[in-house]
Amino acid sequence: LENTLATPVGITLDRYIMRKQAEFPFATGELSQLLRDIVLAAKIVNREVNRAGLMDITGNYGAQNVQGEQQQKLDVVANIRFIRALKNGGEACAILSEEDDDIIHTGNDQGRYVVAMDPLDGSSNIDVNVSIGTIFSIYRRVSPIGSKSTKEDFLQGGRKQVAAGYILYGSSTMLVYTTGHGVVCFTYEHSLGEFFLSHDGVEIPKQGAIFSCNEGNWFEYPEWVRTYLLQCKQRSYSGRYIGSLVADYHRNLFKGGIYLYPPTAKNPNGKLRLLYEAYPLAFLIEQAGGKALAGAEAVLDIEPTDYHQRAPLFIGSSEMVDDLVACLTAEA
Ligand code: AHG
Ligand code: MN
Ligand code: MN
Ligand code: MN
Repeated sequence: LENTLATPVGITLDRYIMRKQAEFPFATGELSQLLRDIVLAAKIVNREVNRAGLMDITGNYGAQNVQGEQQQKLDVVANIRFIRALKNGGEACAILSEEDDDIIHTGNDQGRYVVAMDPLDGSSNIDVNVSIGTIFSIYRRVSPIGSKSTKEDFLQGGRKQVAAGYILYGSSTMLVYTTGHGVVCFTYEHSLGEFFLSHDGVEIPKQGAIFSCNEGNWFEYPEWVRTYLLQCKQRSYSGRYIGSLVADYHRNLFKGGIYLYPPTAKNPNGKLRLLYEAYPLAFLIEQAGGKALAGAEAVLDIEPTDYHQRAPLFIGSSEMVDDLVACLTAEA
C-alpha cells in the first residue's frame, strides 16, 4: 500500500498540466489550455462513440471528403465537436482536418497555435464496436499574431510540432501525448469525468514480436517489404491488425512491434496522411525511443507540400524498423 501511495501515478490531467507548467516558468499557459480544449472535445466524442448505436449516428453520412472517402456520421460529428471546442477555447487560430478540404479559420486571430487533426481514426470500425481514435498535431504559428493563419503555419515540417497525441476510444479511453519531453498516457475515469495519469515516461520496447499491416495488399507491396514480412513469419512473430491506426499503434507502443502502411499500386504514397496521421505518431514514437520511416527517410524529415498529402509509414520498435531498413538496403 505504501508503494502505491508513493507513486506519482494517479494524478489528474489538469494537475499534471499545472505541475508541468511550474517546470516551465516562461511558458504562457496557452498550450496547456489548448490541450485542455482538445481533451474536452475528446470527452464529448467519447460519449458519442459510446452510445453511437443508440443515437442513430452510425453508418454513412452520405458525402465524400477530400480524400475521396465516404464520410461516416461519426467522422462528421467528431469533426464538429473538435472544431467547436477549439473555436470556443480561443488558443488555436486555425485547424486542418481530414474532413475539410481547406483549413478552418477559428476567428481567434490572436491564438498562437494551429492544430492538424484526424477527428476520428478507424472509421471502418465505428459500426462494429471496435476501437477507434482521434489524432492531433500542434504547431506554434509562423504567421503574425493578429492576422489570419496561412498555409505556412501548417507546412512547417514534422520536427516543428510542439505537441502531438491521440485519444484511443478502446476498452479504456486513453490520451497519449508528448510536448517533446517524453510520452505520457492518461486513462479516462468515466464516473468522474477525468483523465488520470496511468503511464509516465512511456517507452516502446526496442524489439518486439508483432507486425501490423493489411496483408490483403501483399501483391502490391514492394519486394523489400515482402522480404521483411517473410522474415517476421520465419521468426513466428504475431500478425495483429485492427485497421484503426491509433489502436494498432497503441498496442505496438506498449508491447513492442512494427506497423506498416507501405506504398501500393493504388496508393503510391501509401494511404495515411502526413500532417495528421504520420507526423504526430512519428513525433510520439521518437519521443518513446522508437523509429518512424517513410522508406529510407524519417517521417519527420519529409518536406510537406500539401495539407492532405500521403506518406508511407513504417513505425515502431527501433530494432524492427532497422531490420526492415536492412531489407530495403539489401534490395537497392
Ligand atoms: P480514417 O478512418 O481516419 O480515414 O483512417 C483510416 C486509416 C487508418 O485508421 C487505418 O490504419 C487504415 O486506414 C486502414 O486502411 P486499410 O483498410 O487499407 O488497411
Ligand atoms: Mn477517413
Ligand atoms: Mn485516420
Ligand atoms: Mn479519420
